[in-house]
Amino acid sequence: MKTLPMCSSSSSSGSSSTTKLWIGHAIVAGAAVAIAIGARAYLGRSSKFRTRVVGIIPARFASSRFQGKPLVHILGKPMIQRTWERTKLATTLDHVVVATDDEKIAECCRGFGADVIMTSESCRNGTERCNEALQKLEKKYDIVVNIQGDEPLIEPEIIDGVVKALQAAPDAVFSTAVTSLKPEDAFDPNRVKCVVDNCGYAIYFSRGLIPYNKSGKVNPQFPYMLHLGIQSYDSNFLKIYPELPPTPLQLEEDLEQLKVLENGYKMKVIKVDHDAHGVDAPEDVEKIESLMRERNLS
Ligand SMILES: *[C@@H]1O[C@H](CO)[C@@H](O)[C@H](O)[C@H]1NC(C)=O
Ligand SMILES: *[C@@H]1O[C@H](CO)[C@@H](O)[C@H](O)[C@H]1NC(C)=O
Repeated sequence: MKTLPMCSSSSSSGSSSTTKLWIGHAIVAGAAVAIAIGARAYLGRSSKFRTRVVGIIPARFASSRFQGKPLVHILGKPMIQRTWERTKLATTLDHVVVATDDEKIAECCRGFGADVIMTSESCRNGTERCNEALQKLEKKYDIVVNIQGDEPLIEPEIIDGVVKALQAAPDAVFSTAVTSLKPEDAFDPNRVKCVVDNCGYAIYFSRGLIPYNKSGKVNPQFPYMLHLGIQSYDSNFLKIYPELPPTPLQLEEDLEQLKVLENGYKMKVIKVDHDAHGVDAPEDVEKIESLMRERNLS
Protein backbone atom coordinates (compact mmCIF):
# COMPACT_ATOMS: atom_id res chain seq x y z
CA MET A 1 0.00 0.00 0.00
CA LYS A 2 1.27 3.41 -0.89
CA THR A 3 1.14 5.97 1.85
CA LEU A 4 0.98 9.65 1.29
CA PRO A 5 4.01 11.38 2.79
CA MET A 6 2.94 13.99 5.33
CA CYS A 7 5.72 16.32 4.38
CA SER A 8 9.22 16.50 3.06
CA SER A 9 12.41 16.84 5.05
CA SER A 10 12.71 19.36 7.84
CA SER A 11 15.56 21.17 6.13
CA SER A 12 13.27 22.53 3.44
CA SER A 13 12.08 25.98 4.35
CA GLY A 14 8.79 25.36 2.61
CA SER A 15 8.32 25.02 -1.11
CA SER A 16 4.93 25.51 -2.68
CA SER A 17 4.54 21.76 -3.15
CA THR A 18 4.87 21.06 0.57
CA THR A 19 2.54 23.98 1.14
CA LYS A 20 -0.19 22.25 -0.85
CA LEU A 21 0.21 19.10 1.16
CA TRP A 22 -0.03 21.04 4.33
CA ILE A 23 -3.22 22.70 3.35
CA GLY A 24 -4.58 19.22 2.70
CA HIS A 25 -3.49 18.12 6.13
CA ALA A 26 -4.75 21.10 8.04
CA ILE A 27 -5.14 19.19 11.27
CA VAL A 28 -4.97 22.38 13.22
CA ALA A 29 -7.33 24.39 15.31
CA GLY A 30 -9.78 27.11 14.47
CA ALA A 31 -8.42 30.18 12.82
CA ALA A 32 -5.37 28.49 11.37
CA VAL A 33 -7.67 26.26 9.32
CA ALA A 34 -9.70 29.25 8.22
CA ILE A 35 -6.52 31.00 7.16
CA ALA A 36 -5.37 27.93 5.25
CA ILE A 37 -8.68 27.65 3.43
CA GLY A 38 -8.64 31.34 2.66
CA ALA A 39 -5.09 30.99 1.44
CA ARG A 40 -6.03 28.13 -0.85
CA ALA A 41 -8.80 30.20 -2.40
CA TYR A 42 -6.35 33.04 -2.73
CA LEU A 43 -3.62 30.87 -4.22
CA GLY A 44 -6.10 29.54 -6.78
CA ARG A 45 -6.40 33.03 -8.15
CA SER A 46 -2.82 34.11 -8.00
CA SER A 47 0.56 32.51 -7.48
CA LYS A 48 1.65 35.30 -5.16
CA PHE A 49 0.64 35.29 -1.56
CA ARG A 50 1.34 37.78 1.23
CA THR A 51 3.34 39.96 -1.11
CA ARG A 52 3.52 43.26 0.73
CA VAL A 53 6.13 43.17 3.47
CA VAL A 54 7.26 45.71 6.04
CA GLY A 55 10.24 45.38 8.36
CA ILE A 56 9.79 47.07 11.73
CA ILE A 57 12.62 47.66 14.18
CA PRO A 58 11.07 48.35 17.59
CA ALA A 59 13.33 50.46 19.80
CA ARG A 60 12.71 51.84 23.25
CA PHE A 61 14.94 54.00 25.36
CA ALA A 62 14.05 52.75 28.82
CA SER A 63 15.32 49.30 29.59
CA SER A 64 15.80 47.71 32.95
CA ARG A 65 19.12 46.18 31.99
CA PHE A 66 20.52 48.75 29.60
CA GLN A 67 19.24 52.33 29.52
CA GLY A 68 19.39 53.90 26.06
CA LYS A 69 20.59 50.68 24.50
CA PRO A 70 19.62 51.39 20.85
CA LEU A 71 21.89 54.45 20.85
CA VAL A 72 24.99 52.77 22.24
CA HIS A 73 27.89 53.05 19.83
CA ILE A 74 29.37 49.91 18.38
CA LEU A 75 32.64 50.65 16.62
CA GLY A 76 31.59 54.26 16.25
CA LYS A 77 28.03 53.78 14.98
CA PRO A 78 24.79 53.65 16.98
CA MET A 79 23.58 50.07 17.34
CA ILE A 80 20.18 50.95 15.87
CA GLN A 81 21.88 52.29 12.75
CA ARG A 82 23.81 49.04 12.32
CA THR A 83 20.63 47.02 12.63
CA TRP A 84 18.85 49.32 10.18
CA GLU A 85 21.67 49.18 7.62
CA ARG A 86 21.63 45.38 7.70
CA THR A 87 17.85 45.34 7.42
CA LYS A 88 17.89 47.63 4.38
CA LEU A 89 19.94 44.99 2.55
CA ALA A 90 17.08 42.47 2.75
CA THR A 91 15.47 42.09 -0.66
CA THR A 92 11.99 41.00 0.45
CA LEU A 93 11.10 44.17 2.37
CA ASP A 94 9.06 46.89 0.67
CA HIS A 95 9.55 49.26 3.55
CA VAL A 96 11.65 49.50 6.72
CA VAL A 97 10.71 51.62 9.73
CA VAL A 98 11.97 52.18 13.24
CA ALA A 99 9.15 52.23 15.80
CA THR A 100 10.04 54.12 18.96
CA ASP A 101 8.57 56.04 21.87
CA ASP A 102 11.65 58.15 22.32
CA GLU A 103 12.48 61.49 20.68
CA LYS A 104 16.26 61.01 20.99
CA ILE A 105 16.09 57.68 19.19
CA ALA A 106 13.76 59.12 16.55
CA GLU A 107 16.08 62.03 15.94
CA CYS A 108 19.11 59.80 15.64
CA CYS A 109 17.31 57.51 13.18
CA ARG A 110 16.06 60.34 10.99
CA GLY A 111 19.65 61.59 10.99
CA PHE A 112 20.94 58.50 9.19
CA GLY A 113 17.93 58.40 6.86
CA ALA A 114 15.50 55.97 8.51
CA ASP A 115 11.72 56.31 8.47
CA VAL A 116 10.42 56.59 12.01
CA ILE A 117 6.99 55.89 13.47
CA MET A 118 6.33 57.24 16.95
CA THR A 119 4.56 54.76 19.19
CA SER A 120 3.21 55.22 22.68
CA GLU A 121 5.17 54.63 25.84
CA SER A 122 2.49 52.24 26.96
CA CYS A 123 3.59 49.49 24.54
CA ARG A 124 4.50 46.64 26.81
CA ASN A 125 6.78 44.84 24.41
CA GLY A 126 8.20 44.84 20.90
CA THR A 127 5.25 42.96 19.46
CA GLU A 128 2.78 45.55 20.69
CA ARG A 129 5.01 48.28 19.34
CA CYS A 130 5.10 46.59 15.91
CA ASN A 131 1.33 46.30 15.95
CA GLU A 132 0.85 49.95 16.83
CA ALA A 133 3.31 50.99 14.13
CA LEU A 134 1.52 48.80 11.59
CA GLN A 135 -1.77 50.57 12.34
CA LYS A 136 -0.09 53.94 11.86
CA LEU A 137 1.48 53.12 8.51
CA GLU A 138 -0.27 54.60 5.50
CA LYS A 139 0.06 51.55 3.28
CA LYS A 140 -1.29 48.06 3.95
CA TYR A 141 1.10 45.19 4.47
CA ASP A 142 0.53 41.43 4.52
CA ILE A 143 3.61 40.52 6.53
CA VAL A 144 5.37 42.31 9.36
CA VAL A 145 8.93 41.33 10.25
CA ASN A 146 9.88 42.21 13.81
CA ILE A 147 13.62 42.90 13.74
CA GLN A 148 15.13 43.15 17.18
CA GLY A 149 17.35 46.18 17.47
CA ASP A 150 19.81 44.36 19.71
CA GLU A 151 21.18 42.06 17.00
CA PRO A 152 23.33 44.49 15.02
CA LEU A 153 24.92 41.63 13.07
CA ILE A 154 21.66 40.20 11.77
CA GLU A 155 22.15 38.86 8.23
CA PRO A 156 19.72 40.23 5.63
CA GLU A 157 19.41 36.66 4.31
CA ILE A 158 17.80 35.61 7.60
CA ILE A 159 15.22 38.35 7.29
CA ASP A 160 14.47 37.25 3.72
CA GLY A 161 14.37 33.65 4.89
CA VAL A 162 11.61 34.16 7.46
CA VAL A 163 9.60 36.24 4.98
CA LYS A 164 9.82 33.61 2.25
CA ALA A 165 8.95 30.88 4.74
CA LEU A 166 5.74 32.66 5.68
CA GLN A 167 4.87 33.31 2.05
CA ALA A 168 5.34 29.62 1.26
CA ALA A 169 3.32 28.35 4.23
CA PRO A 170 -0.19 29.82 4.05
CA ASP A 171 -1.35 27.69 6.97
CA ALA A 172 1.21 29.36 9.26
CA VAL A 173 0.66 32.80 10.78
CA PHE A 174 4.13 33.23 12.22
CA SER A 175 7.67 32.41 11.17
CA THR A 176 10.96 32.54 12.96
CA ALA A 177 14.52 31.21 12.80
CA VAL A 178 16.76 28.85 14.72
CA THR A 179 20.42 28.02 14.59
CA SER A 180 22.60 25.29 16.06
CA LEU A 181 22.81 25.37 19.82
CA LYS A 182 26.29 25.43 21.29
CA PRO A 183 26.76 22.62 23.83
CA GLU A 184 27.82 25.13 26.50
CA ASP A 185 24.44 26.86 26.16
CA ALA A 186 22.43 23.68 26.64
CA PHE A 187 21.40 24.38 30.23
CA ASP A 188 21.32 28.18 30.05
CA PRO A 189 17.68 29.21 30.58
CA ASN A 190 18.26 32.44 28.64
CA ARG A 191 18.98 30.40 25.54
CA VAL A 192 15.65 29.20 24.24
CA LYS A 193 15.53 25.81 22.55
CA CYS A 194 13.12 24.75 19.87
CA VAL A 195 11.94 21.48 18.35
CA VAL A 196 10.18 21.23 14.99
CA ASP A 197 8.24 18.62 13.06
CA ASN A 198 9.32 17.02 9.76
CA CYS A 199 7.97 19.98 7.80
CA GLY A 200 9.72 22.59 9.87
CA TYR A 201 6.71 23.70 11.89
CA ALA A 202 7.41 24.47 15.54
CA ILE A 203 6.34 21.85 18.05
CA TYR A 204 7.60 23.52 21.21
CA PHE A 205 10.00 26.08 22.67
CA SER A 206 11.65 25.70 26.05
CA ARG A 207 14.18 27.26 28.35
CA GLY A 208 15.07 23.71 29.34
CA LEU A 209 17.00 21.41 27.06
CA ILE A 210 14.68 19.79 24.52
CA PRO A 211 14.71 17.03 23.52
CA TYR A 212 15.95 15.68 26.81
CA ASN A 213 18.32 12.72 26.62
CA LYS A 214 17.65 10.13 29.29
CA SER A 215 21.31 10.20 30.29
CA GLY A 216 20.62 13.69 31.62
CA LYS A 217 23.54 14.98 29.58
CA VAL A 218 23.90 16.79 26.30
CA ASN A 219 24.01 14.29 23.45
CA PRO A 220 26.88 15.45 21.24
CA GLN A 221 25.24 13.71 18.28
CA PHE A 222 21.92 15.54 18.50
CA PRO A 223 21.29 18.71 16.43
CA TYR A 224 19.77 20.88 19.17
CA MET A 225 18.37 24.20 18.00
CA LEU A 226 18.62 27.68 19.49
CA HIS A 227 15.80 30.15 18.87
CA LEU A 228 16.77 33.52 17.37
CA GLY A 229 14.82 36.67 18.18
CA ILE A 230 13.65 37.48 14.66
CA GLN A 231 10.00 36.81 13.93
CA SER A 232 7.53 37.61 11.22
CA TYR A 233 3.76 37.59 11.37
CA ASP A 234 0.80 37.60 9.07
CA SER A 235 -0.44 41.13 9.71
CA ASN A 236 -3.99 39.96 10.48
CA PHE A 237 -2.54 37.68 13.11
CA LEU A 238 -0.39 40.46 14.56
CA LYS A 239 -3.56 42.45 15.27
CA ILE A 240 -4.86 39.74 17.59
CA TYR A 241 -1.57 38.36 18.94
CA PRO A 242 -1.00 40.84 21.78
CA GLU A 243 -4.62 40.42 22.85
CA LEU A 244 -4.60 36.63 23.02
CA PRO A 245 -4.96 35.74 26.68
CA PRO A 246 -1.89 34.24 28.37
CA THR A 247 -1.67 30.46 28.28
CA PRO A 248 -0.35 28.01 30.89
CA LEU A 249 2.83 26.93 29.10
CA GLN A 250 3.60 30.51 28.10
CA LEU A 251 3.33 31.62 31.72
CA GLU A 252 5.34 28.72 33.07
CA GLU A 253 8.24 29.14 30.62
CA ASP A 254 7.87 32.92 30.34
CA LEU A 255 7.99 32.57 26.55
CA GLU A 256 5.56 34.72 24.57
CA GLN A 257 5.68 32.59 21.44
CA LEU A 258 4.18 29.58 23.23
CA LYS A 259 0.88 31.44 23.27
CA VAL A 260 0.83 31.08 19.49
CA LEU A 261 1.25 27.32 19.61
CA GLU A 262 -1.06 26.81 22.58
CA ASN A 263 -3.83 28.55 20.71
CA GLY A 264 -3.39 26.10 17.85
CA TYR A 265 -1.73 28.39 15.33
CA LYS A 266 1.07 27.10 13.16
CA MET A 267 4.55 28.56 13.16
CA LYS A 268 7.12 27.94 10.46
CA VAL A 269 10.74 27.70 11.56
CA ILE A 270 13.76 28.04 9.31
CA LYS A 271 17.20 26.82 10.20
CA VAL A 272 20.03 29.24 9.53
CA ASP A 273 23.72 29.56 10.16
CA HIS A 274 24.12 32.40 12.57
CA ASP A 275 26.39 33.22 15.45
CA ALA A 276 24.07 34.99 17.86
CA HIS A 277 25.69 38.14 19.25
CA GLY A 278 22.83 39.87 20.96
CA VAL A 279 23.62 42.96 22.99
CA ASP A 280 21.69 42.60 26.23
CA ALA A 281 23.97 44.27 28.73
CA PRO A 282 26.65 46.98 28.58
CA GLU A 283 29.41 44.39 28.81
CA ASP A 284 28.23 42.78 25.57
CA VAL A 285 29.32 45.85 23.60
CA GLU A 286 33.00 45.14 24.05
CA LYS A 287 32.51 41.51 23.12
CA ILE A 288 30.80 42.33 19.87
CA GLU A 289 33.34 45.01 19.01
CA SER A 290 36.29 42.70 19.42
CA LEU A 291 34.52 40.08 17.35
CA MET A 292 33.88 42.59 14.60
CA ARG A 293 37.49 43.65 14.61
CA GLU A 294 38.54 40.01 14.39
CA ARG A 295 36.34 39.48 11.36
CA ASN A 296 37.19 42.79 9.78
CA LEU A 297 33.61 44.05 9.93
CA SER A 298 33.21 47.77 10.19
C1 LIG B 1 21.50 9.85 24.46
O1 LIG B 1 22.81 10.34 24.27
C2 LIG B 1 23.78 9.34 24.00
C3 LIG B 1 25.12 10.01 23.85
O2 LIG B 1 25.43 10.77 24.98
C4 LIG B 1 23.42 8.60 22.74
O3 LIG B 1 24.37 7.56 22.52
C5 LIG B 1 22.04 8.00 22.86
O4 LIG B 1 21.65 7.41 21.64
C6 LIG B 1 21.06 9.11 23.19
N1 LIG B 1 19.69 8.62 23.28
C7 LIG B 1 19.26 7.75 24.19
C8 LIG B 1 17.84 7.34 24.10
O5 LIG B 1 19.98 7.31 25.06
C1 LIG C 1 3.09 41.85 25.24
O1 LIG C 1 2.63 42.36 26.46
C2 LIG C 1 1.25 42.14 26.73
C3 LIG C 1 0.98 42.70 28.08
O2 LIG C 1 1.87 42.21 29.05
C4 LIG C 1 0.89 40.66 26.67
O3 LIG C 1 -0.50 40.51 26.79
C5 LIG C 1 1.35 40.06 25.38
O4 LIG C 1 1.15 38.69 25.40
C6 LIG C 1 2.85 40.37 25.22
N1 LIG C 1 3.42 39.70 24.11
C7 LIG C 1 3.01 39.72 22.87
C8 LIG C 1 3.76 38.86 21.96
O5 LIG C 1 2.12 40.41 22.48
